[in-house]
Amino acid sequence: MERFVVAGGARLAGEVRVTGAKNSVLKLMAASLLAEGTSRLTAVPEILDVAIMSELLRRLGCTVVRDGDAVDITVPERPGHEADYDLVRRMRASIAVLGPLVARCGEAKVALPGGDAIGSRGLDMHIAGLTRLGATVQSEHGYLLARAPRLTGASVWLDFPSVGATENLLMASVLAKGRTTIDNAAREPDIVDLCGFLRAMGAQIGGVGTSTLEVEGVEALWPAEHRTLPDRIVAGTWAMAATMTRGDVFVRGGRAEHLEVALGKLEQAGAVVTASPDGFGVRMDGRPRAVDVVTLPYPGFPTDLQPMMMALNAVADGTAMITENVFEARWMFVNELTRLGADVRTDGHHAVVRGRERLSGAPVRAHDIRAGAALVLAGLAAEGTTEVHDIAHIDRGYEGFLASLLDLGADVRREDVPEDGFEQRRR
Ligand code: EPZ
Repeated sequence: MERFVVAGGARLAGEVRVTGAKNSVLKLMAASLLAEGTSRLTAVPEILDVAIMSELLRRLGCTVVRDGDAVDITVPERPGHEADYDLVRRMRASIAVLGPLVARCGEAKVALPGGDAIGSRGLDMHIAGLTRLGATVQSEHGYLLARAPRLTGASVWLDFPSVGATENLLMASVLAKGRTTIDNAAREPDIVDLCGFLRAMGAQIGGVGTSTLEVEGVEALWPAEHRTLPDRIVAGTWAMAATMTRGDVFVRGGRAEHLEVALGKLEQAGAVVTASPDGFGVRMDGRPRAVDVVTLPYPGFPTDLQPMMMALNAVADGTAMITENVFEARWMFVNELTRLGADVRTDGHHAVVRGRERLSGAPVRAHDIRAGAALVLAGLAAEGTTEVHDIAHIDRGYEGFLASLLDLGADVRREDVPEDGFEQRRR
């Protein structure tokens, strides 16, 4: 068990670099299963989730070799089709192998990932969509079993623009017989990135970036090379950090156009945002103003930046309302923020945050990737020392988080948690 020990009162200044997007690269790695041979992905972040997906692919018979920021994935003629529980429980995104395996192998056996700290995380749209494409899907002994000698194109409608369901159905339909339309599809940049890779493999996809995707199935795909798009959630995290600490940060490689609503909210809070071809800068002079936020599927405000926005409002001037529309249980983080002295009340999808001049450092625990990063940011804006525990969550989604903080002038160190552990320290 490790923790970050964060000294408060920091003003972040300087430059950070953004690497490839976790929420894209994991699906690109799964998509490589669709073609026999070696695909190469570049700008692959060094994060825990990539290591877990690499292990999952190896268990399916692939070889996965990292070479700097590139990963070569060699897929055999007949990959395995079972994704074990011990890997899937560590990373929900493992479910992304479901579509490719049914399409490529005619069957898939994938452990049910279950819910996590942010919500129940249903799979009904994945299952309904695969069934529309002609697969038989049943759940048995904690596993999803999906079978189809060959999938058949069909029109699929999603009840909610689910990222995961859109990706799985996209990857299933590229090798199906005939045409598939996916209506009310998710439009996240990660989906556009996935379409780019699938097209490079020979897939025929129309309506990319819109809420209606049209796929003409083909007989076979071939391996390809693809550069992962920059991680907009990591870029957004640094933008929030600069604003919360009244700092001045240049986010190299960040794409402002993928963060329009979030950066617009920071401008409402009083930050100055300057976009440029190789990144964007965020500078905050003085105390930020409180800003209301409503999380929505892309291009709305990303739910993954909601915890950072709550931490920002906790030190802002005024009162803000945050409405969480994507994950029903994304308030676990509130208890930890309250430990730092924040004034937050939640009721259903809404949270009211009354800004305080200063938070006060305390031992807190990360329950998921984004909550972990937000607690470190809150610690930077607090008085005294904050200990953030269970930081393995942060490692899952942020490459070189500590190094970047130190580059920006923060006083943070990473250390093992002493035997007396976490609970004693909270007393
Ligand atoms: C992806 O999760 C991301 N994860 C999440 O990022 C992100 O928060 C989310 O999209 C929304 O942007 C990865 O890409 C690995 P959804 P995903 O399917 O695909 C419900 C992070 O911190 N739903 O769009 O699981 C679901 O329960 C993570 O990087 C169903 O009910 O999200 C949720 O409430 C956290 N049935 C909502 O839809 C379904 O079949 C959105 O889920 C599918 C989804």
